[in-house]
Amino acid sequence: RGFCVGFAPAVRTLRYTVRSKTPCERRETMEAAAIVLAAGAGTRMKSKKPKVVHEVLGKPLVRWVVDAAHAAGVTQVATVVGHAREQVIPLVEGDTQVVVQEVQNGTAGAVLACADAFAGFDGSLSVLTGDCPLIKPETIARLAQVRDENNAAVVVLTMKLDDPTGYGRIIRDADGQVERIVEQKDATPDEAAVNECNSGFYCFDARALFDALGQVDDDNAQGEFYLTDVLAICRAAGRPVLALPTDDPSECLGVNSRAQLAEATKFAQRRINAAHLAAGVTMIDPDQVWIGPDVVIEQDVELLPQTFLMGSTSVGEDSVIGPNSRLTDTVVGRGCTVDETVAVEALIDDGASCGPRAYLRPAAHLCEGAKAGTHVEIKKSTVGKGSKVPHLSYIGDATIGEDVNIGAGSITCNYDGKKKWPTTIGDNVFVGCNTNFVPPVTVGDGAYIAAATTVTEDIPADAMAIGRSRQENKAGWAEENRKKKQKT
Ligand code: UD1
Ligand code: CA
Repeated sequence: RGFCVGFAPAVRTLRYTVRSKTPCERRETMEAAAIVLAAGAGTRMKSKKPKVVHEVLGKPLVRWVVDAAHAAGVTQVATVVGHAREQVIPLVEGDTQVVVQEVQNGTAGAVLACADAFAGFDGSLSVLTGDCPLIKPETIARLAQVRDENNAAVVVLTMKLDDPTGYGRIIRDADGQVERIVEQKDATPDEAAVNECNSGFYCFDARALFDALGQVDDDNAQGEFYLTDVLAICRAAGRPVLALPTDDPSECLGVNSRAQLAEATKFAQRRINAAHLAAGVTMIDPDQVWIGPDVVIEQDVELLPQTFLMGSTSVGEDSVIGPNSRLTDTVVGRGCTVDETVAVEALIDDGASCGPRAYLRPAAHLCEGAKAGTHVEIKKSTVGKGSKVPHLSYIGDATIGEDVNIGAGSITCNYDGKKKWPTTIGDNVFVGCNTNFVPPVTVGDGAYIAAATTVTEDIPADAMAIGRSRQENKAGWAEENRKKKQKT
């Protein structure tokens, strides 16, 4: 893992494991690698961002494809980047080799840009389109297996669509063998009427692929070098060219427009939610719950409407999340209640509760049984076991011990305009309402802070701190005031 930008040195030997569906099936191991195409602009998206950076359920399109390749067992993945690559490279450089296609002259040009990277490579080379997020790892593995078993020059994944608009069409000969692929814009009316489409996922014999790429030209409606032309070239060379039809066309849905991005999100949502429902998660309305592909949820969790669980979020047994909650990269323990809460990179331990209307920002940590209540914002702070911040508080850069009660409206004044300062509160401290902590301050165990105190100095253990202006009552003042007003 971890390749550098640009062309790699000699490609290492790769192992491609096809996981058997049943234990008795034999396991295949073969040499394989994959190229993910992600250099195009995606003009149909009408976006400042390159297409493959757009997200489905919180994950960029290109990451879905790269992750599917890894899950299929491909250990060497190269990603072809080009248009606005500074936005794409950070998403893929950690676990793929980045190859630059300087001029985006078509899908064949993108693969050809990998020629040096795969110069010494002889085996199954999958080419995966970076804009189809729903491809399943099993399908990537299956393409390579079929190619290997048949020693085919290429196996292309195909799908039958009621509306094939926009996709390349699979043209078969009189014997039903794949002859070539014709792009929509180059198709005759008869060809356009064919509803078997090119998914944009292939497995090639690497040598046959690079030999054929040299013969691809740009004599077509778009003036581009089409990868799809490789099929006809390989067939003319007498090598087997095969199609593997998918039984689930949704896995081949290409995202070229915002409408297709929404459609892909809907398919992904249904697929992911169905798996969680089957595993024992309750959703009274699965259409109103959005769960990212890498989220982990234990059984007997309940997800209420308008809940978004994204990134590397995990939720432990018996917790209830929602309604109206958005959790990103947040770890929720068992038996928690997370009601109308936004949490980002937060830790919510077993039995803790938050909301309604809590905002847990990065490094907020609610320990076991702790509470962040209504209109409470917590950032980079630990709220100890059983401690409560029930109403209208801002807690930043604080460490709060066990069994502390923070009164309503209490605030840490953690920022002096330049620097952030820490507040430390011991165990069993009682903080009266509307307390301001002006840090750095430390409050000893068992201390008591009277309401409306502004804490500017440390408070020793078991002391009582009171720091507020004295009240004066002016007898009859209000009545006099009313009378004055009536006269004028
Ligand atoms: C392509 C196929 C089409 C297939 C469809 C499936 C070709 C010529 N056509 O069409 O047969 O039905 O995918 O979704 O291959 N890219 C590059 N460099 C380039 C151009 C594109 O890396 O110079 C990348 C894009 O970022 C994208 C992928 O290749 O991820 C496909 O490009 P796109 O323009 O979306 O091709 P389609 O028109 O959808
Ligand atoms: Ca496409």
